[in-house]
Amino acid sequence: MKIDQLKIMKKISRGGSGIVYVVYDKETDMKYALKISKWDERLMRKYLPGEIEFNEKVVKKYPDFFIQLKAYEILDDCKLFHKKNYARNLFEIEEREAKNEYFANTYYSPLCIKKVYTLVDGTLSHIFHELSEEAKIAISIQLMYVFYIMLFERKIQTDTNDGNIGYKKTDKKYIDLHVKNKTYRLNTFGYLVQILDTDTIYDAENESNEDLIEYFILLFPSVYLDTLKINSNNIGKYKNISDLMEMVLEKLIS
Ligand SMILES: Nc1ncnc2c1ncn2[C@@H]1O[C@H](COP(=O)(O)OP(=O)(O)O)[C@@H](O)[C@H]1O
Ligand SMILES: [Mg+2]
Repeated sequence: MKIDQLKIMKKISRGGSGIVYVVYDKETDMKYALKISKWDERLMRKYLPGEIEFNEKVVKKYPDFFIQLKAYEILDDCKLFHKKNYARNLFEIEEREAKNEYFANTYYSPLCIKKVYTLVDGTLSHIFHELSEEAKIAISIQLMYVFYIMLFERKIQTDTNDGNIGYKKTDKKYIDLHVKNKTYRLNTFGYLVQILDTDTIYDAENESNEDLIEYFILLFPSVYLDTLKINSNNIGKYKNISDLMEMVLEKLIS
């Protein structure tokens, strides 16, 4: 794919690290998301190979649950955000609150990456409140399952928040969730959840099962902790995240 030949249709977002556009590719007659973001060199060297590997190993295996990186290009004299005020405002906020070198290094860095991803229809935060109670439950279960898949493949996303969870509309009525050789059928209510912002996913190869379980629970919608009777006293009985996911599905899918 030739990134420079993509036609920019509209801007979707202008966030902390970059800009996201909807773009059109004439050759395939497809729309994609183009993300142009600023990178500090050290962090780019750390995270870019991780994202490429994540795409080859995990996204290919579960294409329903993650956006896919289609192409990328590194620019080494990029002036994005060099407009004084924008950079300075962000930099000052960070400096005051955290004395964080990250923003300083990033905003004065000449490096940007252009990345082309498959497009989602929106983020979950925009539609969730409109859903019926039943649909909210089903989509929360789907979300827990997507996190489960990510952790099962021993990958962790450093910046999980509701802006980083997308959805795609689907005609499929059901999706099958597989845990420990069992299959659970879940109503989609017309939506497939997809994880966005995959550029800071890193390897959790060396994390212990206890740490993964603890992290997994942090990602659960908190309203379910009560229903699922998860608390610090009984968490030790789950030996790995598959045990925990099995319990979630047994309890929430009847
Ligand atoms: N593949 C995509 N398809 C559609 N919208 C996207 C896509 N990726 C990102 N977006 C939109 O752009 C926003 C910012 O993208 P994100 O990758 O999270 O960047 P940031 O690093 O600024 O958080 C998302 O919250 C979402 O609204
Ligand atoms: Mg984001």
